[in-house]
Amino acid sequence: EADKRESLYITSTFAAKFFENNLWNTDEGRSIGLSYFKERGFREDTLKKFEIGYSPEEWTALHDAAIAEGHKPEFLEETGLVIKNDKGSVYDRFRTRVIFPIHNFTGRIIGFGGRTLKSDKKIPKYVNSPESEIYHKSKVLYGLYHAKKAIRDRDNCFLVEGYADVMAVHQAGVENVVASSGTSLTTEQIKLIGRFTKNVTILYDGDAAGIKASLRGLDMILEEGMNVKVVLFPDGHDPDSYIQQHGASEFKTHIELKTKDFIFYKTEILLQDAGNDPIKKAGIIRDIIESIAKIPDAIKASVYLRECSGLLQMEEQILIAELNKIRLSKS
Ligand code: CTP
Ligand code: MN
Ligand code: MN
Ligand code: MN
Ligand code: MN
Repeated sequence: EADKRESLYITSTFAAKFFENNLWNTDEGRSIGLSYFKERGFREDTLKKFEIGYSPEEWTALHDAAIAEGHKPEFLEETGLVIKNDKGSVYDRFRTRVIFPIHNFTGRIIGFGGRTLKSDKKIPKYVNSPESEIYHKSKVLYGLYHAKKAIRDRDNCFLVEGYADVMAVHQAGVENVVASSGTSLTTEQIKLIGRFTKNVTILYDGDAAGIKASLRGLDMILEEGMNVKVVLFPDGHDPDSYIQQHGASEFKTHIELKTKDFIFYKTEILLQDAGNDPIKKAGIIRDIIESIAKIPDAIKASVYLRECSGLLQMEEQILIAELNKIRLSKS
């Protein structure tokens, strides 16, 4: 009920303050956490804006501090900040990690992502809060609280993969940016963006996984009746690493020059591995028509069909017939 939710918010806020205090005001936090962010090029004002923290290398540091402040064990467990093992002993979920608090869009802290600073491949890079009464990851966008005004003002939302990407893009002066962190993009997240703008630009990682996720994401965005564009990054780069290597102004230029409406992006990506194989080319045409078929607005869909006809040198009538076939099979 409402009282319990309020307690979960209060315990989460306490934890965020605890982590933040550790980052700025302890030797361990400063020498490990803060120096890590500085090496990655993050400024202090950016870290403070996103309330970034550090969890110390101890088993029960947060637990003990929270209990001492009167926070109930049940709320520490429900938020997943503390884990209870089979034998009944408790320990902190986040240890020796830098901490990204996750806000809901009104600014309350509802969960956390923690990144390890070790390069040991056996350790998961990120640990995230579990689902709780206040944290439903499929309905949350990381960074939305800090981005929502800019999303409205610019009438566009940049969508990135990671926590660090949100911070880096924001720091580069592009504040209308969010991530579907800890989960692949959901329809609920797209609807949430849709409350602020109908225009989304996907900036996923320039690797096979990022490209695959972008193709899936763009179909989902089209299905919600929204407009979607994509920017491809050079192989191996994500927005954060691109900014780190090339700087904010080159990043902005890259976005200006490389933003492609979904149909040009998808055509380019698919044609790359089709070569001159006619059967593969037929598959691509069908695949692109599948995306166009997701657009609810008939006029918009027909404009894209014409575009597709030009791009793939295929008669519009044939494309229209194919589109109608797909529509019929889905109704
Ligand atoms: N992620 C996760 N759990 C993992 C790996 C990734 O939840 N084990 C989520 C995180 O939200 C992460 C995002 O997926 O930010 C993108 O993953 P990845 O590209 O691997 O990490 P980066 O965000 O680029 O992290 P960094 O730059 O710090 O390496
Ligand atoms: Mn990645
Ligand atoms: Mn990445
Ligand atoms: Mn990265
Ligand atoms: Mn480069």
